Amino acid sequence: MDILNFRSDTQTLPTEEMLDAMRNAPLGDDVYGEDPTVCRLEELAAEKMGMEAALLVASGTMGNLVSLMTHARKLGEAVLVDPSAHIFCNEGGGLAGIAGFMPLSLASNNGMIDPQSLETAIKKPDIHYATPRVLCLENSNNRSGGRVTPLDLHKQLCGIARKHGLAIHLDGARIFNAAVAAQIPVSEYAAEVDSIQFCLSKGLSCPVGSMIAGSAEFIEQARFHRKRVGGGMRQAGVIAAAGIVALEKMIDRLAEDHDNAKLLAAGANTISGLSVNMDVVETNIININHTGTGLSTNEVVTKLADVGVIVSPRAPVAIRMVTCRHTGKAEVEEAVSRMRDALDKNAS
Ligand SMILES: Cc1ncc(COP(=O)(O)O)c(C=O)c1O
Repeated sequence: MDILNFRSDTQTLPTEEMLDAMRNAPLGDDVYGEDPTVCRLEELAAEKMGMEAALLVASGTMGNLVSLMTHARKLGEAVLVDPSAHIFCNEGGGLAGIAGFMPLSLASNNGMIDPQSLETAIKKPDIHYATPRVLCLENSNNRSGGRVTPLDLHKQLCGIARKHGLAIHLDGARIFNAAVAAQIPVSEYAAEVDSIQFCLSKGLSCPVGSMIAGSAEFIEQARFHRKRVGGGMRQAGVIAAAGIVALEKMIDRLAEDHDNAKLLAAGANTISGLSVNMDVVETNIININHTGTGLSTNEVVTKLADVGVIVSPRAPVAIRMVTCRHTGKAEVEEAVSRMRDALDKNAS
């Protein structure tokens, strides 16, 4: 039985064009700033974001961490986050343990911070409170099922942060998914923030790598912090070569992943016991509520694995499925059919 892997878009493999580019890339020692392929990728990334400079890092987690280390002024300042944010929940507590921040979680809905909650959380200087230093946003938001923060709300949140002198970091691991879904250039989101991290290794299909973008001064500082955490890589052009192909060729096709996510969600809705609100399927991630099956999340995950459909648990009531270029229309249709066989009590 062939495996249909819907666990994450992190499973994507490099394209043939990426492999060729990696094999033929001119290389140098990037710690000395002498790898021409890395330099080209960093210029391209900065240009796409409409920012002055960019930096290649090993992963999204490293990009977020290095950005926060660069924003930090003194130990114990506050980072204001959505409580479901990846940087808060899934990055090993690095924002506190390494960057020295205290996370302050705000009221939010589907990964979108409530502006009023942000306004109230930013206290005037007072010896009782940790100094608010950074607002951290995430778009698209992973936990909520790939929801896209609309540009208006993004601007409103950034406006509040700016008014109070906070720095703004955007965890844009999947910012291209958000921008493609919202049909606006990614630079419109980036224009509002001081730093952005985006992943090359997810829907864009690179084997490794993320980028940070910001002002030239920010990126110079970030380069220092990347070195401190051991992220200075030598002939990193082998990674960067794939990144260049990703930024030149792989962005527009993300719309296909979004269409396939809708198809998958609609299919899940035809299986008794499963439900997805179609209105919230905006990008390539869907959370499927399984309460109607009467099974626990782990039971659902196991039953689906038994028929070769790999999904992530979102206990206690949901599973997560993510589409990517390896899970096209045919794989989605096959997955729905197998899921029906595994879960639908009424299936013949
Ligand atoms: C929203 C978000 N931010 C950051 C990351 C971290 O990326 P990486 O796995 O490359 O460290 C992920 C990974 O899934 C993510 O979904």
